[in-house]
Amino acid sequence: MTTSTESTRRRTHAIISHPDAGKTTLTEKLLLYSGAIHMAGSVRARKTSRHAVSDWMEMEKTRGISITSSVLQFEYQGAMLNLLDTPGHADFSEDTYRTLAAVDSAVMLIDHTKGVESRTLKLFDVCRMRGLPVVSFMNKLDRNGLDPLSLIDEIAKTLRLKVSPLNWPVGMGPSFCGVVDVRTRALTLFADGDHGQFIAKSMQIPFSEARQELGERLHDQVSEQLDLLEIAGEPWDKQAFLEGELTPILWGSASRNFGIEPLLNYLAQHAAPPMARGYRNLSGESKTLAPDDQDFSGFVFKIQANMNPRHRDRVAFIRVVSGQFRRGMEVTLARTGETLRMTKPHTFMAQERSIVEDAWPGDIVGLYDPGNLRIGDTLREGPAIKFEGIPRFAPEKLMRTVLKDPLKRKQLYSGIDQLAHEGVIQAFYRPAMGRQDPWLGAVGALQFEVLKQRLLNEYGVSLDLEPLPYSCARWIGGSPKALEWLKQRRDYVEVVDRNDQPVLLSETPWSAQYVADNAPGIELYDVEPI
Ligand code: G4P
Repeated sequence: MTTSTESTRRRTHAIISHPDAGKTTLTEKLLLYSGAIHMAGSVRARKTSRHAVSDWMEMEKTRGISITSSVLQFEYQGAMLNLLDTPGHADFSEDTYRTLAAVDSAVMLIDHTKGVESRTLKLFDVCRMRGLPVVSFMNKLDRNGLDPLSLIDEIAKTLRLKVSPLNWPVGMGPSFCGVVDVRTRALTLFADGDHGQFIAKSMQIPFSEARQELGERLHDQVSEQLDLLEIAGEPWDKQAFLEGELTPILWGSASRNFGIEPLLNYLAQHAAPPMARGYRNLSGESKTLAPDDQDFSGFVFKIQANMNPRHRDRVAFIRVVSGQFRRGMEVTLARTGETLRMTKPHTFMAQERSIVEDAWPGDIVGLYDPGNLRIGDTLREGPAIKFEGIPRFAPEKLMRTVLKDPLKRKQLYSGIDQLAHEGVIQAFYRPAMGRQDPWLGAVGALQFEVLKQRLLNEYGVSLDLEPLPYSCARWIGGSPKALEWLKQRRDYVEVVDRNDQPVLLSETPWSAQYVADNAPGIELYDVEPI
């Protein structure tokens, strides 16, 4: 095994979708079709009766949802697929965004009865910011939904993307029976037998010879659509896909096991392998590091605490960027210069953990960590470097703290300080208050619940939170005159983040837009400028 051969066969990806589009179902079917599981039903069962199998946070049990992302690794046609799961609940957090910093491509799952929904749009924006290649899967074709041609048009317009259907659905709702490969015009017909528990039976015939199987009307309809596509559709262009400018489109039904194989084939053959990453060396110079660099390097993109309440453990998830990761190896933590020993690294198959001996670029390793590591930390064998690219996203919910026991103030501040460093929450300080009584910000409300639980468990602080009237935060840059302009206004508040960067708080995104349009020389950012 060499770093180069192992790295080029890695396909590290995540599924982005709106809740209920079918992410859990699709994840399970990818595992079924890759042979990693033999019967579908276990992952979704887990989702609904999680308390039976999970020892993760108490809150997760009581609320019956997945707060945390897991990592699945499975092989398919010689490729090693790493699928990073993003939380599926309606509530979400910075973790979801950060997961996208650790993948090389994304699967955009769209419920074709609904089209592009709000969460998908938000997550897609993060993919675009990172230039991630996105492959689209239109799900639930076994239900009646939008006209396929209008749907791809909607995707192209809403996401400002070139769209290139690789296959095309035959029928929809009860008549959905297969997909035609747009280039070869081979028709794959599916047979539905066992409610999706096992791999669906299928057969291939040339579309031109399928008049009898499909019936005149359906055959003519699909024929016409394929002809239209030939004129109007974008040809598939791998380079444009890899640069995030074009999305290939595939159709199917995750629950019926229709169209899963073409998606897996695409991921295995064409999804992006690990690429070189930008970093800064200690003198601040920007450079890139290729996956086949001989020294191991990686970065922390997620920290999860209290996965097991009995041990109060804390796991840092590391994305390997270059070289070979080996159990027991010593690495340098760039932020402090400390040397850390990589003992007990884990991989996570759903929620079962096993120790890993080695890992390669694209892989995710979970490390038990007593508190040395933070989100964005870079680890490297050899000279210290700092990777770019785990930004913080502007919070959409802001709260003030109400301490139940005033004698715990010191513990509260040090708890918030530590948890803000970990990336659980963002802390903002008002100029007149110094570092006292921070306001707290989060992308999703669940982050506040996690904060409260951890403050109680780890710092013995019981806390209430009260909403502030702001729902929009923007980092402020540009001319100092802008700050003067802002000081004269009563409808905005200026605070600083933990790095003393000024941040504007406003009641709505529209009022922030008013500032952007009117304050002289101002620049506002919804992602922390690095
Ligand atoms: P999520 O993780 O994205 O939130 O979605 P999940 O897989 O949990 O699926 C949400 C619902 O959509 C589930 O129904 C699931 O069965 C259904 N679903 C997923 N894929 C398809 C599909 O291809 N066709 C159809 N018709 N439905 C699909 P549910 O009623 O919430 O649960 P269940 O009773 O089916 O278990």
